[in-house]
Amino acid sequence: MNNQTLMQRDLDVLWHPCTQMKDHEALPIIPIKSGDGVWLEDFEGNRYLDAVSSWWVNAFGHCNPKISQAIKDQVDQLEHVILAGFSHEPVIKLSEKLVEITPDGLDRVFYADNGSAGIEVALKMSFQYWHNKGQSKKRKFVNLANSYHGETLGALAVGDVELYKEVFEPIMLKPITVASPDCFMQPDWESHSRKQFEHMERVLSEQHEEICAVIVEPLIQCAGGMRMYHPVYLELLRKACTKYSVHFIADEIAVGFGRTGTMFACEQAQVTPDFMCLSKALTGGYLPLCAILTTQDMYQAFYDDYSKLSAFLHSHSYTGNPLACAAALATIEIFQSEPVIENNRKLAAYMKQATEHLRDHPHVAEVRQTGMVLAIEMVKDKKQNIPFDWQERRGLKVFQYGLTKGALLRPLGNIVYFMPPYIITEEQIDFLVEVATQGINEAVKS
Ligand SMILES: Cc1ncc(COP(=O)(O)O)c(C=O)c1O
Repeated sequence: MNNQTLMQRDLDVLWHPCTQMKDHEALPIIPIKSGDGVWLEDFEGNRYLDAVSSWWVNAFGHCNPKISQAIKDQVDQLEHVILAGFSHEPVIKLSEKLVEITPDGLDRVFYADNGSAGIEVALKMSFQYWHNKGQSKKRKFVNLANSYHGETLGALAVGDVELYKEVFEPIMLKPITVASPDCFMQPDWESHSRKQFEHMERVLSEQHEEICAVIVEPLIQCAGGMRMYHPVYLELLRKACTKYSVHFIADEIAVGFGRTGTMFACEQAQVTPDFMCLSKALTGGYLPLCAILTTQDMYQAFYDDYSKLSAFLHSHSYTGNPLACAAALATIEIFQSEPVIENNRKLAAYMKQATEHLRDHPHVAEVRQTGMVLAIEMVKDKKQNIPFDWQERRGLKVFQYGLTKGALLRPLGNIVYFMPPYIITEEQIDFLVEVATQGINEAVKS
């Protein structure tokens, strides 16, 4: 079996996610045979360092022995059971753990089987909460410009990445979109984030009677190009949501579990949202699962006699799958038994120092970082901040270069970023930086 044969078989039957399939007339599809730590290996023995944690899910490396073992142990015990009317030990233990490690006040856990489905849960729960409370005027959601919350219709609707959304506009729910706190090219993140909050404050003060919830990606708008902002925005948002009786939905699907330098991004603002959605690294990158944490107040608003029809009648077949729960428990166990967050701080500092030279690159507008996420934004004209034409696909050139050198650096438009598994070493960071630097040098050539 070689790459070419598998690629051909793949192209005969598959339709890949987030892909213009015609690109693959020129670009290879790389079949991966195995994973080991930060490395992925294809069928011809080529290795690729997974700088993007396979779409931000992988926390402790591919084929991590502890997580693999936990799944193996679970699979012979119980692979799955309906979660309505039945329960099982992994889901109970995981719920207890999540209540323990998330911010105080998040005491109830509902499950979905992927991030987008989890966002749908939070949106529906928020809406129904107000409905159950007799506040039927509350029907709208507020989101941030440039946000991303997934691809199912409801989740897509509360996102704001035009590329994914535009074609579906005619059939979607319409949120109230507020200017983003994005600090791109801002010298003072705190004052900029504070200033941007004025837009949110205005919308909430004027329309709160019609608003169910505000949804944000805490600290980093990941799919929107790894745009970052200061925790003060979350602090102000918590206060305003309380003041105006509006729910605060923290979508920590991408940023949760240590990505931003703390276990959860909300910790940096010391806030408890009304909903916290967790997925991706929750299972260490092994299996799809989403946990939606919420408050007792939320739970109580649905708790009544069946005949009142106030229950949350939402379900997914694989809700709380035991194998996924076992993977999540093993992942949390690693966080709790090893100094992961502390070690990440050292790795983050190393990434910062290793990319210092890129700050002066004539086609790099900004090198920005929050914890274990570091983004390098390429521009055509640095002085005047003129972006490269998106059709030139400069980021894709870095990606292609990376593959020839053994690095998986899937970009976001013209943004090259590192969001690696936490087991990456300093030497591997040096390797990634070297490949990215050379890749950028190649990609910006006119
Ligand atoms: C912030 C955020 N929310 C939601 C999602 C959707 O998660 P999923 O891809 O599991 O549906 C993503 C996926 O990238 C995300 O980054």
